[in-house]
Amino acid sequence: MYDDVLNEAFKAMENAYAPYSNYHVGACVKLKNSTYIWGANIENASFGVTNCAERSAIFATYSQGYRKDDIEALAIVSDGDRVAAPCGACRQVLCELLAGDTPIVLSNKKETVVTNIKELLPFQFTTEDVCR
Ligand code: THU
Repeated sequence: MYDDVLNEAFKAMENAYAPYSNYHVGACVKLKNSTYIWGANIENASFGVTNCAERSAIFATYSQGYRKDDIEALAIVSDGDRVAAPCGACRQVLCELLAGDTPIVLSNKKETVVTNIKELLPFQFTTEDVCR
């Protein structure tokens, strides 16, 4: 069911720039209009400014003018032994930029898990807490 967006994410993974961790991650946002927007992890010698693949993909999506209602699914894939569950920073970003029930599909080819950001980050700190 998610083969298309997963295949695109595995292609995006080939663009990962990960000379420090050697851990390659790809992501792909599938829009409702069937556009695919790729992201990959992009590392830096100053490790803290590394960008995760899913943030690369969701930021590219917003940069092109799309918003959460335009998004059908997000795939995140890695070449690790386990599926790449998004890190805490990415969960916070996704809870703002992705609808709570939009499918997030995680895969490492051996295993695929379908979840969403409501499940990955319960009890969220959101724009509603700040903009009162
Ligand atoms: N990474 C991602 O791109 N996404 C994740 O969900 C987990 C971690 C990247 C960041 C860094 O380049 C490498 O994986 C190792 O942490």
